[in-house]
Amino acid sequence: MSEDQKGITFDEAQAAAYDTRFAPLDPIKGALHLVTRLALGRLPPDARVLCVGAGTGAEILYLAEAFPGWRFTAVDPSAPMLGVCRKRLAAAGVLDRCTLHVGRLDSLPPSAPFDGGTALLVSQFITDPEARRGFFAEIADRLKPGADFVSADIAGDMRSPAWDGCMAVWAEALRFVGSSEKQIEGYMTNMGTRVAVTPLPDLAGLIESAGFTPPTHVMQVMHIHAWHARAAS
Ligand SMILES: C[S@@+](CC[C@H](N)C(=O)[O-])C[C@H]1O[C@@H](n2cnc3c(N)ncnc32)[C@H](O)[C@@H]1O
Repeated sequence: MSEDQKGITFDEAQAAAYDTRFAPLDPIKGALHLVTRLALGRLPPDARVLCVGAGTGAEILYLAEAFPGWRFTAVDPSAPMLGVCRKRLAAAGVLDRCTLHVGRLDSLPPSAPFDGGTALLVSQFITDPEARRGFFAEIADRLKPGADFVSADIAGDMRSPAWDGCMAVWAEALRFVGSSEKQIEGYMTNMGTRVAVTPLPDLAGLIESAGFTPPTHVMQVMHIHAWHARAAS
């Protein structure tokens, strides 16, 4: 593991709590999933979709129900997160349409290029810009030319007054889910240190430079942003 990827770990305890801790904020995730579905909507009925940083499988569960012919490859270095993912996919009856890979994308065995891809709420954990570009480039390399891709990340300009306003509302969101003031303080300390907070134009440029069309900004809820791009032809 490189220095830039040591920031936040998704261990057993995190994995066990991940789906319930933020449950009161599920409408935000719901919006992200809906936008992802729409952005990937032109994929063929038998599409193979690469989900990088799939975590406990939230986006796969949503997309698998919406598109019964799609197959998914879930990639995530956290065995505990993918362990929860496996159980949830099995309970939903979609595990036979999924391949789960514990590890980063560079360790996924070679395969035919994918029709589409997602990386939802992942890339902000890679704080070194070059490593982050490499993360997106590896995804682009695994996709068919022109394949649709959705990325969601924490982003923004921490020097702008709008950032502080946004964080004040997000602090309320954290109180809403029952976080202690100490936890909220820790969250805020992580912003720009263990979690990359990149201004939007810079992040769009980084994704494009990794081998995608200029990304379209398709969603913002507070400091959470989603982008749609296509793998460069
Ligand atoms: C905040 S969770 C998001 C999970 C899921 N996409 C969701 O929206 O619920 C971030 C996930 O990214 C994974 N992750 C972190 N660095 C990664 C990397 N370099 N490649 C792939 N996954 C990574 C973590 O292990 C974790 O499961």
